[in-house]
Amino acid sequence: MEKELEIKRRKFLGQISAAGVLGAIGLSPIPVSAKQSYSEQPESGYAFLTPPYLQNPMPNSMSIMWLTNKKGVSWVEFGEGSHLNKKATSEHDGLIDAFNTINSVTLADLKPGTQYSYRVVSRETLPSKPNNLQLGEAIYSKTFSFTTPQRDPETVSFLMINDIHDRPESIPHLMKLGAQKPYDFVFFNGDVFNQQNDQQQIVDHMLLPATQVFASEKPFIMSRGNHETRGPFARDLGDYFMNRDERFYSAFEWGPVFFIVLDTGEDKEDNDKEYTGLVAFDDYRKKQAKWLESVMQIKAYKKAKYRVVLMHIPIYYSGDWHGTMHCRELFGPLFNKYKVDVTLSGHTHKYGFHEPVAGDHSYPIIIGGGPQDGRRTITRIEADAKALTIKMLRDDGVEVGNLAIPAKA
Ligand SMILES: [Fe+2]
Repeated sequence: MEKELEIKRRKFLGQISAAGVLGAIGLSPIPVSAKQSYSEQPESGYAFLTPPYLQNPMPNSMSIMWLTNKKGVSWVEFGEGSHLNKKATSEHDGLIDAFNTINSVTLADLKPGTQYSYRVVSRETLPSKPNNLQLGEAIYSKTFSFTTPQRDPETVSFLMINDIHDRPESIPHLMKLGAQKPYDFVFFNGDVFNQQNDQQQIVDHMLLPATQVFASEKPFIMSRGNHETRGPFARDLGDYFMNRDERFYSAFEWGPVFFIVLDTGEDKEDNDKEYTGLVAFDDYRKKQAKWLESVMQIKAYKKAKYRVVLMHIPIYYSGDWHGTMHCRELFGPLFNKYKVDVTLSGHTHKYGFHEPVAGDHSYPIIIGGGPQDGRRTITRIEADAKALTIKMLRDDGVEVGNLAIPAKA
């Protein structure tokens, strides 16, 4: 028998504080059914820890992730328009995924530019004898909707948030400012956290505030900053996101833009005592530089109207520590040689638009601020056939930067 999950008392600071902030700034959260809860540790029973969040958007697929408090088996019910007439599961090697608390299902064979409805369903996998698996009652999320990207759309738009540093209320606050117009996705350009402690931090400081305002219906990309490489849970971080190619650096086309996402790693040398000999970012950055040059030689990169690089640490205007200098040494010559149009970063906590400088960088360098009030920014990037425009808003709504890059002839 199936029934909806009974509401549990929420002890959840993240949820409560996000809702409080939303009320205070007049932004309506995505409504949550009274029959649902996202509970830290419900007194008993099986529960969602997060609403679903969208990942890796493609014209013909969308990945959906969500967390449950105990191990279970999960699926997605979905369909075009308002229908929920299809069911998708995830499988590996002939086995449908089960005994999971981090759930991930990719909806495949979708139509481009089409609206879909969906809800996620989970059932607890109960302790039982071998070959006699027992499942608990099903729990359902509310129904959400999303629209798949068009194939070769004429435009793309996205919002960049960076350097939140464990201030979950910044996500709804900045989204309220940035989401005044439609957008395709949100890009977290690193340092959402100060360091990775545990799953609860990811839930409270990112997944709940993000799903409260957008992430169940608009996808986001999580890119790593140097702070996400720290802490006892840093090696688990990737499990919570489905990035392109299932790693923290990638390249993809969306409309007139060719995007390159780099993982700039730590800011100090690998042998710094802070890292206890447990990092190898020099080799990792070298590997990315080799990959980057191969990507820059493909036809799609060459013919793109705009080439946009997203990287947490900017290669200039961010001091002279090793991370910056190594990125400059490895990536800088490639950015100039292959005519990058702009790089978008964070890291310095000091927002700014930096014009091209002959001999150094032949493209503008845009840096978002943060994390304290008065320094936080959200950056809106839009591209069409004529221009790529970048507008940065400070957390008081004042525009602090504006740039238009004309399309290549
Ligand atoms: Fe940083």
